[in-house]
Formats: sequence, structure tokens, C-alpha cells
Amino acid sequence: MPVETITWKSGKIKFIDQTLLPHKLKYVSTDDIHRLWWAIKKLEIRGAPAIGIAGALGVVIGIKRLKAKTFDKFFKELQTFSKYLGSSRPTAVNLFWALKRMEKAARDNRLKSIAEIKNILLKEALKIIDEDMKSCRRMARFGSGLVKHGSRILTHCNAGGLATADYGTALGVLFESNRQGKNIRVYVDETRPLLQGARLTTWELMREGIDTILICDNMAASLMAKGRIDMIFVGADRIASNGDAANKIGTYNLAVLAKYHKIPFYVVAPLSTFDFNIKSGKEIPIEGRSGDEVRAILGKLIAPKNVKVYNPSFDVTPNELITAIITESGIFNRPYRKALGAVSRCK
Ligand code: MRU
Repeated sequence: MPVETITWKSGKIKFIDQTLLPHKLKYVSTDDIHRLWWAIKKLEIRGAPAIGIAGALGVVIGIKRLKAKTFDKFFKELQTFSKYLGSSRPTAVNLFWALKRMEKAARDNRLKSIAEIKNILLKEALKIIDEDMKSCRRMARFGSGLVKHGSRILTHCNAGGLATADYGTALGVLFESNRQGKNIRVYVDETRPLLQGARLTTWELMREGIDTILICDNMAASLMAKGRIDMIFVGADRIASNGDAANKIGTYNLAVLAKYHKIPFYVVAPLSTFDFNIKSGKEIPIEGRSGDEVRAILGKLIAPKNVKVYNPSFDVTPNELITAIITESGIFNRPYRKALGAVSRCK
């Protein structure tokens, strides 16, 4: 059963504080947009699709108490909330996709009363959740077709239920393969600095009874060299029109290693993660985070407290290193610009 990561309950957003996992499963309820902004910023809510959902629901809580009587005034305030929520994290395009969708839903209904528009916006946010659930299942089905009985799989960061409204993207493929009795083994990169692999992915896989082995990030190459990895599945935060894909820092390392060791490297992501407005990964904004995340592990200082730090949250894997991209609309192969062209026109 997928964990309920982020939902709408009794007029509030209810979400898991993921910073406390795996040792504490704590839900937080809020209708305070500033609390939500911090939850996204601090990675209490994280993972591209979940951030998108948080953005959509964030608009709903933002507009809840608005007293504006005219559409123009209402819309101006909505845009202020949308801009504010968008300032929380820059890389996952799902956030901006969801915010734009909420703005469009308001504009398309400008002739209705403000009360009706508020209701329509709540429905739109719930629709985004519903669509995310369905696309997780579809990606899982497509991706599991690539997994053979007994496959040994490597994953990085957390692209599971905690990053979506349902089953996850890359982990969805693994859950579905496990459900089909494929007897897979999954190696999980711990994913420094914030340890999403060690804390979140292991927790999700073990809850499903999947054979899970945690490794430090610097152990992947040696496993590959020993022939102990058959395939790699990762998620994405933003995919450019040419298929270049931004994902958690360290993903690019794996893709380079996979190419050298001739291991298939798959990216699993819903269409809401594609940014067809940009031509290549060079245009993807990469979030830089506090040096303290590297100087310390879970709050415990491990390096000199004034050492300089380089801490980009994501890197970009060039499309030529990606064997295929698995979406809810099917599996796409290179050349991605051509393969994705038809999808971009429908989006
Ligand atoms: O910084 P995070 O934890 O939000 O980064 C998450 C990732 O990089 C995931 O792999 C990505 O968002 C895909 S989640 C389905």
C-alpha cells in the first residue's frame, strides 16, 4: 500500500514531515501558506510531483480567506501567492506546471463568482492529485516490462510514494515488478547530503518486503565493475525538450558509470516533469542549498564549521546517457527531441 504523502483533509493540507523519517512517521496539517512554503523549502515535502501538488494546494489555502470582490483583484492576489510558492524551490518544474495550471483554471472561469472560482480551484488541485496517482500506476506498468526476474537494480535519492501522491515513479516500477513476483534486489544510494536514499527509499522498499541493500554513494562503481547491477532506475525534476534530465545530485555520476559498464539507465517521470520551453539541460535552474547540509549529517557537524562548501541540489544527465525515458504515455527512446515532439504538442 502506498503511503499517504500529501492530501487535502478538512480544509487543510495534510502531509508527512519527511525530515523525520524513517524513525518517526508524523503528519502535519496546515492551512498556513507560510508554513507550507517552509515545508517545501526544508524538504518536509519533497520530490518533484509532490512539490507540484503542494503548490496547487498552496494556492487553495492562499486564496481561502481572500475578500476580493472583483476577478482582477482576486487574480492579482492569487498570482502573488503563486509567485511566493514558486520561490520555494527552483528546479522541479512540476511546481511551476501546477501553479500555471491553477492560474489558468482561475482565468478560464473569470466570469463566475469568486466563491465559485475558489471551489473550482480546489477541484483543480484535487484533479492534479488524481492524475498523479493514475500516471504513477501507468509508469509502473510500462517500466516493469523492462525488468527481468531476479534483476539487480540500483536507484538514487527517493522517487517513491513519498515523492508523489501514490506509488512513485522509479520506485513505482520496482513496486510493480515486486508485485509481479520478479524477485528483484534493489541497491539504494544513501544520497548525501540529505540522505533521501538511506532514510526514505529503504523505508519504502522494506515496507513492501523488497530485498533492499543500502550503499554509500561512492560504492556504486565497484558494484557495477563486479557485474552486480543489471539496470538503473531514477526519477527526474525537470526534463528538457532534448531529453536532458535534472535529478538529485549524483545521478549524473551514475549515468556516466552506467555507460562505461554498459548498464541500461532509465529515467521515470510523468509528463508534468517535462519542460518543453527549454531546449536543453543547460537552461535548467539548479538549486544551490546551504553549506551546512554538507558540513553536517542530520544536524551533527562533521567538518570544520567554517569550511567552504559546494552544494548543488541537482545535476543534469545528458540525454545521450539515458537509455529510455518512461512516462505515463509510454517509453521514449532517443532521439528524444523527435520522440517527445508529439507529446509536447499535446501537453
Ligand atoms: O531534493 P529532493 O528530495 O526533492 O529531490 C528529489 C529527487 O531528486 C527525485 O529523484 C525527483 O524529484 C523525482 S521524484 C518522483
